[in-house]
Amino acid sequence: MYPISIMGQHMTKVSIVYLSTSGNTKAMADAIAEGVKSRNVDVSVVNFHEATLEDLKASSAIALGSSTFYYKMLPPMEKFLENLGKADARGKVGAAFGSYGWSGEAPVMIADKMRQIGMKVIDPVLRVQYKPTAKDLEECKRLGKDIANKVKEASK
Ligand SMILES: Cc1cc2nc3c(=O)[nH]c(=O)nc-3n(C[C@H](O)[C@H](O)[C@H](O)COP(=O)(O)O)c2cc1C
Repeated sequence: MYPISIMGQHMTKVSIVYLSTSGNTKAMADAIAEGVKSRNVDVSVVNFHEATLEDLKASSAIALGSSTFYYKMLPPMEKFLENLGKADARGKVGAAFGSYGWSGEAPVMIADKMRQIGMKVIDPVLRVQYKPTAKDLEECKRLGKDIANKVKEASK
């Protein structure tokens, strides 16, 4: 499958957006992207403050990752998530992930929000304690493949 072009514009099929303070959730995001790519589906992976509403609107699937701080997301990610409702995401494939230490609420909250706005969320959320191990990264890749397969199914 090749990236879709609409009126000459390149359309990213899967957008992966993350907030990561020390790189743990970012490592997950990169491994998920590898999994998507391995299925020949176009993917972008960006820090949340680089993500634009246009990118999200143009995507068939959105994976959002955040680590957990004080039993929730950090406020900038909460703000970002509020905007997701404006991204015409209803009916799109969604996935939530994140590294955590002991309680891991953030990915669950992301998945709840995605469901609220009508996205088709992959269950369960993917959580990794602290720095992902090689085995954890394999799981992230598997999630990426799963997302890619769902995007392909949806475009049939
Ligand atoms: C100040 C502080 C508060 C934290 N609060 C929580 C928490 O409430 N629950 C939890 O599961 N982990 C908590 N953690 C652990 C982080 O989620 C964990 O270190 C995670 O791996 C960071 O991932 P990142 O590098 O992607 O940001 C906290 C860490 C710090 C430094």
